[in-house]
Amino acid sequence: MYIYYYGHSCFLIEVNGKKLLFDPFIAGNPLAKDIDIQSIKPDYIFLSHGHGDHIGDAVAIGLSSKAPVIGAFEVVSWLENHGLNGFHMNTGGKRKFEFGTVKMVNAVHSSQLPDGSYGANPAGFVVYGSDYCFYFAGDTALTLDMKLIPLTCPPLSFAILPIGDNFTMGYEDAIIAAEFIQCDKIIGCHFDSFPVIAINHEKAIQAFATKNKKLVLPAVNQLVQL
Ligand code: NI
Ligand code: MN
Repeated sequence: MYIYYYGHSCFLIEVNGKKLLFDPFIAGNPLAKDIDIQSIKPDYIFLSHGHGDHIGDAVAIGLSSKAPVIGAFEVVSWLENHGLNGFHMNTGGKRKFEFGTVKMVNAVHSSQLPDGSYGANPAGFVVYGSDYCFYFAGDTALTLDMKLIPLTCPPLSFAILPIGDNFTMGYEDAIIAAEFIQCDKIIGCHFDSFPVIAINHEKAIQAFATKNKKLVLPAVNQLVQL
């Protein structure tokens, strides 16, 4: 398994030989503008919700790679109207794929597609196989629903949580989220892309460390070292 960070909330995670791309927003991200999106060849594209800073490059990458999308019913239907294909799911459901099982879990946020279409309820994903399990939270507030994850899914090896505040939880709430999901290895996302979500890295890492948790703040266009 490897984890590659394309900035904001976009990660490419390779499991069982399949490349899973989460929330591709690259061309519009000032921190990721040097990345050539045509070089990204995922096998599947996951979309947590319809906001432009998550779905931004999904159509372009989906058309060039032919990768199917996985997400909420209405988000996948909208992408089908733009020439992609995919797997319609909804919150609370799980489904088996060739690389493992995907469970869609609740996120507390909002959602609208770039043209104003209904963007379904926002979601997170728990993805697991025989030897791995991780949680990609999408955009979310801290919510008690996160306590359901350890009750319904295998133990997490790591989790990707938004920590930039303003639009999502900040790092203080993300520490509580890490406790709710019973996970000590957290990769932060949704920070620094815009001034309003800029964070103090040292402070955030230190705050996690005082709770005996590891916060990794990945660098854009780099492999993530857990
Ligand atoms: Ni959002
Ligand atoms: Mn967002």
